Amino acid sequence: MTNGSASGIDQRSRREFLGNSASVLWALAVSKPASAIARDEVAREAYGKCGMVVSVSEPATRVGIELLRAGGNAVDAAVGVAFVLAVTYPPAGNIGGGGFMNVFVPPPLRPRFPKLTQPAIVVDYRETAPRKAHKEMFRPDDSPHQHKAVGVPGTVAGLALAHHMFGKLPWRQLLEPAIALAKEGFAVDASLASSLNNVLMQSRAFAEFQRVFAPPDGQRWKAGDTLRQPDLAWSLRQIAQGGAEAFYRGAIADKLVAEMQRGGRWITHEDLRAYRAKTRSPITFPFAGCTLYSCPPASSGGITLSLILRQMECFPFREWGRWHVRTLHVLVEAMRRAYAERARWLGDPDFVKIPDQLLDPEYARRLAGSIRLDRASSSQDIAPWIALPPEGNETTHFSVVDGDGLAVANTYTLEHSYGSRIVVQGAGFLLNNEMTDFNWFPGHTTASGLIGTPPNLIAPGKRMLSSMTPTIAVSQGRAVLITGSPGGRTIINTVAQIVLNRLAFILPPRVCVDLPRLHHQWFPDEARCEPGRPLTDSLLHQLRQLGHRVVRAGRQGDAHSIFYEADRGAYCAIADARISGAAAAV
Ligand code: DON
Repeated sequence: MTNGSASGIDQRSRREFLGNSASVLWALAVSKPASAIARDEVAREAYGKCGMVVSVSEPATRVGIELLRAGGNAVDAAVGVAFVLAVTYPPAGNIGGGGFMNVFVPPPLRPRFPKLTQPAIVVDYRETAPRKAHKEMFRPDDSPHQHKAVGVPGTVAGLALAHHMFGKLPWRQLLEPAIALAKEGFAVDASLASSLNNVLMQSRAFAEFQRVFAPPDGQRWKAGDTLRQPDLAWSLRQIAQGGAEAFYRGAIADKLVAEMQRGGRWITHEDLRAYRAKTRSPITFPFAGCTLYSCPPASSGGITLSLILRQMECFPFREWGRWHVRTLHVLVEAMRRAYAERARWLGDPDFVKIPDQLLDPEYARRLAGSIRLDRASSSQDIAPWIALPPEGNETTHFSVVDGDGLAVANTYTLEHSYGSRIVVQGAGFLLNNEMTDFNWFPGHTTASGLIGTPPNLIAPGKRMLSSMTPTIAVSQGRAVLITGSPGGRTIINTVAQIVLNRLAFILPPRVCVDLPRLHHQWFPDEARCEPGRPLTDSLLHQLRQLGHRVVRAGRQGDAHSIFYEADRGAYCAIADARISGAAAAV
């Protein structure tokens, strides 16, 4: 089902999607003041039955819970959280970027959404290449921090579309907390203070960035300092009053286009007017007694995840155990093969034909058939098309479930941390540099990491291939795992390991998130391993003996996830401890 609609959301089409009962709900939704939530209600983990939110930022989690308490559903809360993250988590929270929102509707709620043909739906609000873009627009020495690297933003259209389809609370109410936080300011925590200090040092050439994010004393940010963003408050107010129209056609569009005129006129009014968020069917497949709903192209996440997990199922890895060298070996081999398929086939489905057989279990079985248990294979041998381009390292994922079981997994990004570093003058928001997720140089592949294969080459209006993998596992009509992560291409492997930890090995929620992760992406031909037990040096040594190149790496991902614990009859929200994060329950 694809019914893209970025702007111009009217009540008639809303009723058509929701049916009559929903319009009654809409009418009943009143702008109740949200009840304040106490300081100790937000923690690294939380338990509850009536709704949960977990995100990278405490103010965002808090607002999500307040919106649930005010009568909003999980989508209302998710939209509110996303707008707050645009204020409180500038490395990745955004209105100038894009992402994917995966929504699972449990059976009792389905009659309220008669147009829904499946239990889950993904809102694809990935950025697009502007009309002026072409496949040879980048040169090898081009900076990723320039106007040319900016894709047409999708976030505002995506959040508006999600709200249009599912929302109960009025749109304006969802933006009020973000507007207040931008206007009044909020206290930065230690991790944001250090991130801002670093990026300010690296971005001296970006005058508007320096002005907007300047520390209060002109020196360095410290935990507890207040960050105020009056220009961003203005933009959010425009969006609250005018909806997505304000962003794509109104006063914000004028400022965005004026900004682009300072750097090559890459994005025009016409590009903004043409942008559409789209709904897509999720990638759906069974695993370990559950049904997984994951992210479809233009993300590679769901298909690659299904290829990894289906190859795993060809081996008795449960009997071997989670930390047996053979399990890790097979996992690395499955990742290697799945990422090779990703590079070979995947791109924007509106532009390239993605073979249906990638989702056929037999296809995964054939891939797994070439895995030998006694030694590693080589990435070169399994596919001859060489390496992949570099990719940024900031995105953010959050998970929400409400008291009715409506569940949301949302991942969105500016691509690099703080995106292009270009702040739209007078509008206070950062622009993405997502164009760098395309294959930059057609036909130009190098051993050092570039690829020029056709499915992900630049074309006007095309979405660049993503790895974002917001995923929901469902058992007996209930979302039992809501997960996703940042981390560029590592995202898919992070999600694969959380799914394995929980659904195949039935480990406790905190353990599923805390356990060290590994990553293999076909090229470069190496397994990167997080430090920490049980991924010990001796286990790494055993992998090397099988012929793997294994390296130690820094943290992998930041997977704020929600788990259902059947024995407690309750949900458990876990903030990933790798960076900051906050979980709370209604
Ligand atoms: O869409 C993608 O896959 C990338 N632009 C995401 C970048 C990312 O996750 C960086 N995060 N840590």
